Parts: sequence; C-alpha cells; structure tokens
Amino acid sequence: MREYPGGRVDLRSDTVTQPTAGMREAMTTAIVGDDVLGDDPTVIQLQDRLADMLGKESGLFVSSGTMCNATAIRAQTEPGDEIITEAHSHIYIYEGGGFAALSGVSVALVEGLNGIMNPEDVRSAIRKGDGSLGHFPNGSMVCVENTANRGGGTCYPLETMDEIARVSTKNNCTSHIDGARIFNASVAMGVEVARIAEHYDSVSICLSKGLGAPVGSVLVGSSQMIERAYRWRKMFGGGMRQSGILAAAGLYALDNNIERLRDDHYRARRLAEAVSEMGYNVDMNQVQTNMVYIGCEKGSAEEMVSKLSDQGVDTLTIDDSSIRAVTHLHITDEDVDRAIEAFAASR
Ligand SMILES: Cc1ncc(COP(=O)(O)O)c(C=O)c1O
Repeated sequence: MREYPGGRVDLRSDTVTQPTAGMREAMTTAIVGDDVLGDDPTVIQLQDRLADMLGKESGLFVSSGTMCNATAIRAQTEPGDEIITEAHSHIYIYEGGGFAALSGVSVALVEGLNGIMNPEDVRSAIRKGDGSLGHFPNGSMVCVENTANRGGGTCYPLETMDEIARVSTKNNCTSHIDGARIFNASVAMGVEVARIAEHYDSVSICLSKGLGAPVGSVLVGSSQMIERAYRWRKMFGGGMRQSGILAAAGLYALDNNIERLRDDHYRARRLAEAVSEMGYNVDMNQVQTNMVYIGCEKGSAEEMVSKLSDQGVDTLTIDDSSIRAVTHLHITDEDVDRAIEAFAASR
C-alpha cells in the first residue's frame, strides 16, 4: 500500500505509519463520549474487543506502549518489589526508567538469546524478600517481550512462553507480556494471540506499530487488575476524554491490518536475504517478523545510515555497529527493491 506522502523509503520503524484514508474515515465518523466519565462507546468497544481476542476479562485504552507497560507494572507490584525482564527489553532500555520512577521497583535482568529468555534463567533471577533477612527486593512480576524488538523481532516459542508463565506462577509472580507486536508473533507463528497469552496475567498491545493506528495501546487482564490500572492511568495523566476518535483507528486496524502483517514479514525477509548476500552481517535466525538488524563495522553505523539516507532510504542506528530497518504498511515491493539498491551502493 502506498498511501504515504513523500518519496522516501522510511524503514526507521513501524511507528512511522500514517493513518490511511479508510482509517481516517473511521476516525471522523466515530461516535465518542467522555472516556474519563466512562461513556465513550468506541473506546469501550475497542477495550472489549481486544480483551476478548486475548482471552482476558477486561481492557484499558492508554496513550502509548510505554504507558501500557507502566500501568501494568504499577498495578501489579508494590514499591520495593522487583520485576524480572530481558536485558535488552523495551521496558528496561527505552522507557526512561519508568519502572523505577513510577512504580518504585528494581529490575533483575535476564540475558536472552536473540531477546528470548530461557525459563530456567528466569527462575534463577527471581529473588524474594522473605527468607533473605530483608536483604533482597521482592521479585514479583515477570515481563516477557513478544516479539522481542532488540532480539531482532523474534518470536517466543509457545512452549517457552508457557514455561515462563509456569515458573512465574510457581514463584508467586504475576506474568506480563509486552506485546507491542504480539500480532506480528501471532501471524508469524500461526498461533492465535489468545493462545500465546493464555497463561499470562496481563498483556500490553500496541495499535500504533505494525497495525498502523496513529496512537494507542490497550492493556488487557483480569477486571480486578484493570480496575487498579485505571486508577494509575488517571494518576499518570493518561485519562483521555473523546478518545473514541483514536479508538476508532484501533478498531479499523484490527479489522484491516492484522493479516497483512504477513506482507511486512515477507518483505523484511527479502531485504534481509539480499543484504546478507551482499556481505552485510545479518543474523537470519533473527529475521522472523518485520525487522532486519544489520551489523556494520564498529563505529560506522552513523555513516551507514547517512549513506542510505542520501539515497532516500531511512534507517536507524541501534549502536555504533548496527542499524535497523523495519517494514510496515507503507513499504511496497518497489521500496524494498530501492532499499536493496541503496544497500548495494553503500558497501
Ligand atoms: C517492544 C516495545 N514495547 C513498548 C514500546 C513502547 O511503545 P510507545 O513508543 O508507544 O511508547 C515499543 C516501542 O517501540 C516497543 O518496541
């Protein structure tokens, strides 16, 4: 689909998508209310729909993936607790230390393989205040990112998901999925999102990544947990009023943009294979969804991004020796051809 102004191929992130004509139409005609007063029918519809899709009792519409994780953590921990998450997870690296500032929790990091944690490593990272002479924080929440962004957009095998949830429950921890891209995982694995999330207490789902909505995430879980999250959302300044306009974009995305994620995955794979054949360092095992992480010589990432940019192809540096390209609903087969040519000319 090419409903995108400008002649550049923007592979920086799947967050750059702009609402398409159909989505804008859905937003314009949305019936709205005052969501802080609880009567915006479109928000209610979106929350119920996602809760249902994920097999959970309730949902809460929030402004961003970061706020979704923040409310989930705040609603399921107490200050002095500890969360357990992967060493390169979004919650740890890219959320401004919100877990510490907003929830007062510390973090135990688990080194994953391509972002995927081993259940046994999760188990050993859980420490409890009780029985530690007061030394340890209380490990009380395990957070799993699926797909794992910094892992390369990798999907957790279902058995690993289930086993981590089992380890969490056995150790009196709640379990949370940062499912910003859980629909990418679902489509790539051919497994329903409800099955992926079956044994988890909460899931945050982003509408503004591959699904193409301009704003918004939904937290799903038990009604009791969502009630607590609702209060924290308000305290974090996230109570929105006529947010049905935004929720309508989310509903449109769920109707129209899930199955097509397959196209993004196919295009990412094609790009990855082509640049890998050129001699760029790409771990093809990581290329499972819509992301391609490309290694380059140490210290040359900025230069690589700049060379590609000169040819109209936008990517992002991850660190000084790697860059990232992400496919999304505005990237066509021709755009992938153009990106491949740009990589070839940047060797
Ligand atoms: C895995 C993951 N979780 C959460 C987020 C946060 O989303 P937002 O940028 O909407 O706050 C992102 C953003 O890219 C992400 O990749």
